[in-house]
Amino acid sequence: MTPRDTPSPAVRRSIHRKLLRWYDRNARDLPWRRRTADPYAQWVAEIMLQQTQVQTVIPYYERFMRRFPDLRSLAAATDDELLSHWQGLGYYRRAANLHKAAKLLTADGRDIPDSADALRTLPGIGRYTAGAIASIAFGERAPAVDGNVARVFARLFNIREDIATSATVRRLWSLADCLLPARRCGDFNQALMELGAVVCTPASPRCDDCPLGNSCKARAINTQSSLPVKRRSPAVPEVPHVVILAARNGAYLVTKRPPNGLWGGLWEFPNTQYRSKRNRPASISRLLADHDLPSNANAICKGTVTHRLTHRLMHFDTYHCIVECGTQRRGTRWVRANRLSALPMSTACRKMIALAQI
Ligand code: ADE
Repeated sequence: MTPRDTPSPAVRRSIHRKLLRWYDRNARDLPWRRRTADPYAQWVAEIMLQQTQVQTVIPYYERFMRRFPDLRSLAAATDDELLSHWQGLGYYRRAANLHKAAKLLTADGRDIPDSADALRTLPGIGRYTAGAIASIAFGERAPAVDGNVARVFARLFNIREDIATSATVRRLWSLADCLLPARRCGDFNQALMELGAVVCTPASPRCDDCPLGNSCKARAINTQSSLPVKRRSPAVPEVPHVVILAARNGAYLVTKRPPNGLWGGLWEFPNTQYRSKRNRPASISRLLADHDLPSNANAICKGTVTHRLTHRLMHFDTYHCIVECGTQRRGTRWVRANRLSALPMSTACRKMIALAQI
């Protein structure tokens, strides 16, 4: 951290006092906040909250914790059981890493590590997640800077450099480190996250309600709306696909995705990417042939499902056909229409089912 950034001990004390008092009065009642001493509960919450909004996470979290209340029950779960509790939440690698870490720990007869450094050795746990779990569950004096906290700091300290450069990231983490109080570190970290989520919001921050308003350098010179500075991200590529929803005696053909990569281990309908509209008929023919579906199947286009991922915009031209024969290969299944909802599938596939009204 550059010396000009270092808040004096008096400023630090004032920030601790104001922020913790505000948190005590205003913290939302979130399910994981009812069990702050349980590292497993914090771990699951922090993994689900990566890239995902609190309101989206809550019902998933509650269902997940009912079915997998502790490390052992999670380690004993099958991949399909786990995925069916994660489906719709996206970023499925998070679930795979959580599962892998639970299995590693139980196989060695270990508990969840009780320090940020040791937590970081587990799959899927980076610096932020380790700091959040260690400070909240174990009271460790560990910083935790996520997007919300970075925005709060960018404004509080009027940081005008691109928030994503490694120099700024280092600066934010050292600020977080030096600001941590001697006690209640978990509450302090959560208070910063909470402030970013409900007061110091990306658009139209509610500065009049901010407990740190008087200490905020951006507010003093009215730069809060232009902070944090973010480099414009390049346009995401659009990727067109064809998908076949093939029905045989009321059952649909589904295939299992490889365990790693996008939507790892989830079930989906046969699909393939195509380059341009001109290639689309050939892509459909290939897809039918690859799944031993008749080439003369009268596939009817039901429309296009669009699904946004972080780095890609996926389009799925969704075809429906009724067939009398089709593949029985490994990794494929025919599943009755009314059983599709029980199968772990991505949100994109759920949209296709809704589009085709099956
Ligand atoms: N976002 C990330 N971690 C969080 C937490 N523990 N509480 C609320 N929002 C969060």
